[in-house]
Amino acid sequence: MNASEIRQKFLEYQVSLGHKVIPPAPLVLENDPTTLFTGSGMQPLLPYLLGEPHPEGKRLTDSQPSMRLQDIEDVGDPRHTTVFEMLGNWSLGDYFKKEQIPAFFKFLTEVVGLDPQKIYVTCFIGNDEYGIPKDTEAAEIWQRVFKDAGVEAKIAEIGSAKDGDKRGIKPGEHIFFYDDHENWWSRGGGIDTTPIGDPCGPDSEVFYDFGEDKQDVEKYGKSHPASDGARFMEIGNQVFMQYRRKEDGTFEELEHKNVDFGGGLERITAASIDSFDVFKISLLKPIIDKLEEISGKSYDSNTDEMRIIADHLRGAYLLTAQGLTPSNKQQGYALRRLIRRAVLKALDLGIAQDFISEVVPIIAKNYEDLPDSILTHRESAIAVLEREERAFRQTLSKGLKEMGKMVAQDADGILTGNDLFKLQDTYGFPFEVSVEEAYRQNIKLSKDYKNEFDAALTEQRERSKTASKGMFKGGLEDHGEMSTKYHTATHLTLAALQKIVDKNIHQKGSNITPERMRLDFNLDRKLTPEEKQAVEDQVNEWISQDLPVKFAEYDKEYARDELGAEGQFWEKYEQKVKVYTVGEEKSPISREICGGPHVEHTGVLGHFKIKKEESSSAGVRRIKAILE
Ligand code: ALA
Repeated sequence: MNASEIRQKFLEYQVSLGHKVIPPAPLVLENDPTTLFTGSGMQPLLPYLLGEPHPEGKRLTDSQPSMRLQDIEDVGDPRHTTVFEMLGNWSLGDYFKKEQIPAFFKFLTEVVGLDPQKIYVTCFIGNDEYGIPKDTEAAEIWQRVFKDAGVEAKIAEIGSAKDGDKRGIKPGEHIFFYDDHENWWSRGGGIDTTPIGDPCGPDSEVFYDFGEDKQDVEKYGKSHPASDGARFMEIGNQVFMQYRRKEDGTFEELEHKNVDFGGGLERITAASIDSFDVFKISLLKPIIDKLEEISGKSYDSNTDEMRIIADHLRGAYLLTAQGLTPSNKQQGYALRRLIRRAVLKALDLGIAQDFISEVVPIIAKNYEDLPDSILTHRESAIAVLEREERAFRQTLSKGLKEMGKMVAQDADGILTGNDLFKLQDTYGFPFEVSVEEAYRQNIKLSKDYKNEFDAALTEQRERSKTASKGMFKGGLEDHGEMSTKYHTATHLTLAALQKIVDKNIHQKGSNITPERMRLDFNLDRKLTPEEKQAVEDQVNEWISQDLPVKFAEYDKEYARDELGAEGQFWEKYEQKVKVYTVGEEKSPISREICGGPHVEHTGVLGHFKIKKEESSSAGVRRIKAILE
């Protein structure tokens, strides 16, 4: 079955169980200021999950196009996409666990035809602090369901995913208990971050096993459902919405309990053809084929680039076909960013000519069976995308030329934040694109380029009072809390690398978005899994010690020679430099020259997690990490 057939079969199956098919909501929700895009099927249904009666009754189903821009950096691996379709079914105070679990299992095994032996599931282990009990009920239902399919499923108590990486799976285990990082669902993620007033609850996730040989144990540890790596892929999540978070932060039982089921259409389809690469399914493969044809290159040797282009153009098509146009703000800016990234990756593949008009009709064909009520602008979508591509290529060639001149004119070949500002302000060459391009061409950026850029932007705004100028940074850029936290986390990561791996490690570059941090550092080999783990643990230990973060200004020679402060561009700094210290003044954990901003205490950072460690360029490694 291809993706369209699976979508169709899912809806028919749910109808046979008494559900009404509701039309999917648009990706840009009119009345939801909390997110840029619809990110799951439940989002448009929030009022009904909190008790308002739905005109179609208590059993609903749909297939909801969803967009998770926070995953944009992960696109390129075999399974992440920014845009995807979420198959959904809901019980609004009607059926609960004992109906939902067997029904979904039956869909997977009897309708889609997955082998029950390859299905693994997870349940919530409970949380003492908030008085939420362990979900033994779900686990027992699972055991029965497996048994009926001829599988004696054993239960494993895992707790944290990290413990699972050490423990792995014992023979016969198919049901796994994890903590709230894995098996609690709210729009805010884990239990502590559940938004006030939101419905939430324990969840039970379903995974497909692509085989033990897919696990890279050295890189990700032993395999288990919540491990990183290619062996297991989550294909569906059943949220048992039993609770609502109160103003005081505690949880109360909802009067009527809901089921919120979401399944990834792309992933279920990939499981059905036993391909751990979702880009091989019917919604994506034709796009990849076309890219191979246009570029004359193969998917096997240009996998990441082709995945990124395919994903981003699919997202861009779905947004423009819903009437969104590229702009410098909010959703329009996100759309612009998708198109621009796709064009830049195409350049990497050597596609120097306009190509979007050749690819988009293939995407449009894939979505012929999505309702007109949601794809209201199919006709004009291609023209909008074409126009944006053309304009961007012109901007690019002008901006790239200027960038080259700037680098050639600088004695050290470094681009500063002021240069980046000039590129944006005078040539319309966006800040983010300059940064990506600098990485692509291995051009060094000054250590404080981001702050320098911000300062130049602020200064310009104050000077002209035209706040609308230079607004390319609008929308996704965030100078708020998360970016500040990531600045401090970057200092801690560098200090941990020096302490654990090599004291001669220094920063070679850094890039922060509200979603993650990225740190480049000198090292001519990969980190071992033990080192990576130890660095992560060390940063988390410093976070839990709630160390003070302070700054003071010094002469740069004093900062370097007396204080031993970290710094990347001594020749470039002004005479007076700002030095940030984490920990005790006398024996600090970290001391770095930096413009800030930083948090005041490390305790507010949350949980630190390294998502990737990879090569950046010769002798330089790159860590991507998040705070949860
Ligand atoms: N709303 C649930 C999710 O996004 C199903 O995983």
